[in-house]
Amino acid sequence: MRVKRLAILLSGRGSNFEAIASNIRSGRLDAEIAVVVSNRPDARGLETARELGITAVSLPSKGVSREEYDTLLADEVERHTADLVCLAGFMRLLSPHFVRRFPLRILNIHPSLLPSFPGLDAQHQAVEHGVKVSGCTVHFVDEYLDAGPIVGQAAVPVLDGDDADTLSARILAEEHRIYSEAIRLILGGEWSIEGRRVVAGRSTGLDSA
Ligand code: GAR
Repeated sequence: MRVKRLAILLSGRGSNFEAIASNIRSGRLDAEIAVVVSNRPDARGLETARELGITAVSLPSKGVSREEYDTLLADEVERHTADLVCLAGFMRLLSPHFVRRFPLRILNIHPSLLPSFPGLDAQHQAVEHGVKVSGCTVHFVDEYLDAGPIVGQAAVPVLDGDDADTLSARILAEEHRIYSEAIRLILGGEWSIEGRRVVAGRSTGLDSA
């Protein structure tokens, strides 16, 4: 069976991308990164990709309409024959047009226990709200913000002395772990969707597509 191909979309630092790349290198995740695409030409993640010898594409979104941009982006992903699109700090809402081109083939990582604190600055939202537990979520991307079926989650405590930065660091360590686990599950194909629930162990996933 051929190795499954990932397209990683990012906008900044790219630490989740690095964690995925490192898990692939060490054999913990059986996949290859076909391309890293960023809407921000100055994204650190693009530079890291180049250093790692991974195809890195800068696709600036500035001044391009959403529909036009999402067509360009989807074409780029298809050009690299990606099996799965992984949003890793990609700070743009994808249009229904993009999402429909890759049904159940786009994952996102979000730094909260969804459905709590969707949107921007989730860690800040959690601290401000006063929750005692937060965490991160890997979910399928649908047409709505941070709303698709949940593939994996991890919880971390929110400590009394936390600010958004200290909480972010604790959550990020868990993000790096669960994103690769979620990708492994989805690429393995042994899962199905029942209602909103992603259920492991029944095969109607990627392999059957
Ligand atoms: C991560 O914390 C990720 O969960 C978050 O951006 C950060 C990217 O870090 N994503 C979102 O907030 C999406 N709504 P990274 O560039 O180091 O992977």
